Amino acid sequence: MSVLIEQEEPIAVARLNRPEHLNALSSELMRELVGALENLDADESIRCIVLAGDERAFAAGADISELRDTATIDLYFGARLDLWDAIRSIRTPLVAAVSGYCLGGGCELAMACDLIVASESAQFGQPETGLGVMPGAGGTQLLARSIGKAKTMDVVLTGRFLDAAEAERAGLVARVVAREAWLDEAKRVAREIAEKGPVAQRLAKEAVNRAFETTLSAGLDVERKLFHLAHGTEDAKEGLAAFGEKRKPEFKGR
Ligand code: CAA
Repeated sequence: MSVLIEQEEPIAVARLNRPEHLNALSSELMRELVGALENLDADESIRCIVLAGDERAFAAGADISELRDTATIDLYFGARLDLWDAIRSIRTPLVAAVSGYCLGGGCELAMACDLIVASESAQFGQPETGLGVMPGAGGTQLLARSIGKAKTMDVVLTGRFLDAAEAERAGLVARVVAREAWLDEAKRVAREIAEKGPVAQRLAKEAVNRAFETTLSAGLDVERKLFHLAHGTEDAKEGLAAFGEKRKPEFKGR
């Protein structure tokens, strides 16, 4: 299995499992990953998903042997890019837990998640042009939206890696955590997320993502509609009542 799933309701951890190849994203791994994420997304008991590699690497990019051996037209017509769209369609919040190398497609995968929790050991980069190719799964677009043009050009054109501290300063990473605690801390963040109203979380995720797709006035309009959708849920009644009654809300995801 190239992806291992651990369910610890209300969170789940999906771990990339090709350590001998630094978790390079083969087509098989990507298919397994998307299948697993879609199953977890449909499971109401799971309210946040952590996506992790291992201590040495989150993922060192697309599988270079596969890229070398696949005809261009097969890459273009293959389902590979649809798999990336499928990850962006997951509604459950996704936390990337990054330790070690997070390069090329690996960095793109981390950016396809909702937030990145990084170990002090994390190294981010888009070194594809050194291989004579270029980022192809969102690297140029997502990185530019995340850290701006100057740093993106630096990273993409020189191939240099950002360490965790620089990635956090640049806005790519939400939190940097101690080397030995990288996965535990990411799980703790996921549990914090999982405590909140799950419908509201999904709607809020949709609204934030819309900010990168549209004008401010259209984005505010979407936010207003999603706010009212959230306000009409049973969870909102429960959350608002629980505050007044000074108790913890029990959200049902309805
Ligand atoms: N694909 C396939 N195998 C990979 C790999 C990758 N992206 N990255 C590492 N590996 C393999 C190595 O070939 C090696 O296997 P062997 O032991 O069988 O030789 C094993 O993982 C360990 O790697 P290294 O010996 O190279 O480890 P290192 O510590 O010396 O170097 C590294 C680590 C700097 C990350 C180096 O492995 C490296 O540069 N990897 C490639 C990074 C890269 O260029 N990624 C972009 C890929 S293209 C892409 O992602 C396209 C896209 O966006 C769509």
